[in-house]
Amino acid sequence: MKIEMGQTKPENFKEHWPGQYEVFHHFEYACGIPSILFAITTRKENGKPNVCFSGWSSFSGDGNGFYTIIPGMLHHTHTYRNILRNGEFVINFIGKDYFDSCIKTINDNSDDADEISAGGFTEEQASSIDCPRLKEAFLSLECKLEKNIPMSDISSIFIGKVVHIAADENYADGIDGKYEDTGFMLNIHSPKDLKTGEGKSSAVAVCKIVRINEE
Ligand SMILES: Cc1cc2nc3c(=O)[nH]c(=O)nc-3n(C[C@H](O)[C@H](O)[C@H](O)COP(=O)(O)O)c2cc1C
Repeated sequence: MKIEMGQTKPENFKEHWPGQYEVFHHFEYACGIPSILFAITTRKENGKPNVCFSGWSSFSGDGNGFYTIIPGMLHHTHTYRNILRNGEFVINFIGKDYFDSCIKTINDNSDDADEISAGGFTEEQASSIDCPRLKEAFLSLECKLEKNIPMSDISSIFIGKVVHIAADENYADGIDGKYEDTGFMLNIHSPKDLKTGEGKSSAVAVCKIVRINEE
């Protein structure tokens, strides 16, 4: 038997924080699809480095270009304003041990804050664009904004073209530590029990290789 669900939020999906179902659709919690977590670095109007802990993106394209599609780019963030102002940003992939550092950048989010220092990260200058990036990242994607697609009053979809990458040499061996405990961290965002509507805990996951397909 399949549990079917449409556009109307089930009544037993309780709100756990004010505005929860304005920021996220109930399908977010019903589907529970894991997404890669990363930190977007940009520069604020006053020159201070900015960090935005983020998920909910995808990365691909065709032979002409590699793109990041970022849905849910919230308009109230520095990141939204910074990217609209100069059209550039860096996506930094960091391991799960930096989760709390990322939360520190959310808690210290004033206009005057150097959010890279606030998180205990080390600033590095991006190679191809005028943005800071994280020294601690095992992979950084330097991106230029290609499209801003407004979706509502509160968020947009950004599409960025990756123009340069920087990879830690210790994470440059193909199927390696990127797909283990030390690699990509994933967000499991409060998946719900679809029958009872219960469930508000989020979780962090890492990849586990279960099969290698030799060509
Ligand atoms: C696990 C996690 C994932 C997040 N993902 C996003 C996201 O994809 N998009 C977004 O706009 N905010 C996201 N946030 C919230 C931002 O990190 C937060 O609003 C941050 O303070 C914005 O930073 P800024 O104003 O310096 O840009 C996420 C927060 C957490 C804890």
